[in-house]
Amino acid sequence: MTNTNYLIIGSGVAGLTFALRIAEQFPNKKVTIVTKANADESNTKYAQGGIAIVTDKNEDSYQKHIEDTLICGDGLCDEAVVKMVVTEGPKRLKELIEWGAKFDKNSDGNLNLGKEGGHSENRVVHHKDQTGHEIERAILMQVYQKENITVLDHHFATDLITAENCCLGAIVLDEKTKQISTYLSDITLLATGGIGHLYGHTTNPVIATGDGIAMAYRAHADIKEMEFIQFHPTAFYEASTGSKFLISEAVRGFGAYLRTKKGHRFMIDYDSREELASRDIVSQSIDLELKKSGDDCVYLDCTHLDLEAFKKHFPMIYNHCLKSGIDISKDWIPVVPAQHYLCGGIVVDTNGKTSVTNLFACGECTQTGLHGANRLASNSLLEALVYSSRIYEYLANPNLKIKIVKKEILESDTAKKTEIDSNYLDVLKAKLQHLMRQNAGIVRYDTDLLNAKEQLLKWKEEIEKIGNTHQISSSYYELLNMITIGTLIVSQSIERQENRGGFVKFKAPSFAKKKS
Ligand code: FAD
Ligand code: SIN
Repeated sequence: MTNTNYLIIGSGVAGLTFALRIAEQFPNKKVTIVTKANADESNTKYAQGGIAIVTDKNEDSYQKHIEDTLICGDGLCDEAVVKMVVTEGPKRLKELIEWGAKFDKNSDGNLNLGKEGGHSENRVVHHKDQTGHEIERAILMQVYQKENITVLDHHFATDLITAENCCLGAIVLDEKTKQISTYLSDITLLATGGIGHLYGHTTNPVIATGDGIAMAYRAHADIKEMEFIQFHPTAFYEASTGSKFLISEAVRGFGAYLRTKKGHRFMIDYDSREELASRDIVSQSIDLELKKSGDDCVYLDCTHLDLEAFKKHFPMIYNHCLKSGIDISKDWIPVVPAQHYLCGGIVVDTNGKTSVTNLFACGECTQTGLHGANRLASNSLLEALVYSSRIYEYLANPNLKIKIVKKEILESDTAKKTEIDSNYLDVLKAKLQHLMRQNAGIVRYDTDLLNAKEQLLKWKEEIEKIGNTHQISSSYYELLNMITIGTLIVSQSIERQENRGGFVKFKAPSFAKKKS
C-alpha cells in the first residue's frame, strides 16, 4: 500500500501541468503520477495544429474567440466557462514559455499564428506541426526536476477506491511486475485523456481507451454529453485499419482545398466558410459526398501552395506524405474523417471538481461546458492548461479543508488465476470497434443505436463474468472500459432528440451506408 498526497492518473498536458504546479506550491507533499505507457505517451504528444490563444490584440479579441467557440458549440456551450477559458489563455501561454516550450515566430519576433476551421482570425500558437510534442517535452522536463514528484510509468490504474461518495485513491497494476497495489491519496486527479480506440479508426494513439471515464462511472460520478464524438475531417486515408495519421486542419488554414476524386471543391456547396467551416460541418459534408459517390476518400489539394513555406510549417506532414508516395507539390493527399476527440465526459465544475468528493478531473476526459456540441479546433490544449491551473489554485487555498473518510482497505486479490486468452480479447475488441464505426459514427440511426446497446450490454455481462474467474490484465480492463464507454455513447445518443453540432441522428438511412 502506498500513501501519497496527490495521486494523478495520466501524464498528458492536463496531468503534468497540475503535478508541476501543486508540487511547486507544496514541496513537502508527495505527488505521484501513474501512467500506463511511457511517460510521454499521450494524445498531447501528437497534437499538431497548436493552442488557440488571443495574443494579437490588433486583429483579434477575446470577444471574437468567445464567439467562434460558441458558434462552433452550436448552442450547447456554457458561456461563462467559454469566457473564463478564453481570457485565462494568455497567462497559461506565458507559463508554458517560462517552462521552456518554444513556439514559432515571424521574422519580426512576434508569434506566428495559424488558422483552423471555425476561427475568424489567425490565433493558433504552434511549434511547426508538432506542438503537442514540444509541450509534453517541456513540461515533462520540469516535472523530472521536482524531487517531490514520482512518475510511475507503465502503471495502469484499474479502479478508484471510494467510500461515502469520497475518493480515497486508486488500485494500480504495475505492468512490469504484474503487482496490483493500493494507492491512497488525499486528492485524486483523473487526467486520462480520450477514447479513440473504441472506434479503431482514429487519430489517437493506442492509450486512448476511455479508462478514466469508465473508472469515474463505476465510482458513480456524473458523466454527460458522451454522444458528442468529434470526427476530424482529414486523417490520411490508408486502406488498413488502426491509428490514422492526422493532416492538421492548419493545412486548410494555410490554403489547401478539399476536392472530390473528380476535382470538385465541394465545401463551397456546403458552407460560406468553405474549407474552414467548423469540423462537424466539414466531416458531415465529406461523409455525404462519399455516400453519394461511393468513393473511399476525398482529397486535400496543396499543389497551389508555396512548397518551401509548407515544408517549414508542416515538416512532419510533408515527410509522412512523401514516405507514403504522395508528393504534395504534385499529388493530392487522400483523406477521410476519423474519430479524433470526445467533447463530453466526466462532469466538472470550474474548479475541476467532479460529483465525487476529493476526485478531480481535467483535460479530454472531462465535460466542462467549453465545447458544447462540437469543439473549436485547438481549444483542447487550452482547456487542459486552464483547468489544471484552476484545480491547483483551488487546492492551494490555505483555508481549504479536505474531507477525510476512513475505510478499512483490503489489499487487492493478487492470487494467481488463469490468464485470459489474449486472442479472445483481441477478437472482441475488433468486433466492438466495428460495431461503434457502423452504429455510432458521424451519422447515426435510431435502430442501429438500439441494436448496438443490446449487443454492448451482452458483451459487458460476458466480460465481467470472465473477470471474476481470471487473472486481470490491463488489456482486460481496457476492453471492459471501452465497452462501458460504448454503452454510454450509445445510450446518450438514444436519449438525445435533437441534432446539434457533431451529433446527427435520423430514424432511417436515406443513403446506403458505406462499409467502415
Ligand atoms: P492525454 O494527453 O491523452 O493524456 C492521457 C494520459 O493518461 C496518458 O499519459 C495515458 O497514458 C494516461 N492513461 C490513460 N488511461 C490510464 C490508466 N488506466 N492508467 C494510467 N494512465 C492512464 N488539441 C488542440 O488543442 N490542438 C491541437 O493541435 C490538437 N491536435 C491533435 C492532434 C492529434 C493527432 C490528436 C490525437 C489530438 C489533438 N488534439 C489537439 C487534442 C489534444 O491533443 C488532446 O485532447 C489533449 O492533449 C488531451 O490531453 P490530456 O492530458 O487530457 O490527455
Ligand atoms: C489539427 O491540427 O487539425 C488538430 C487540432 C485540434 O484537434 O484541435
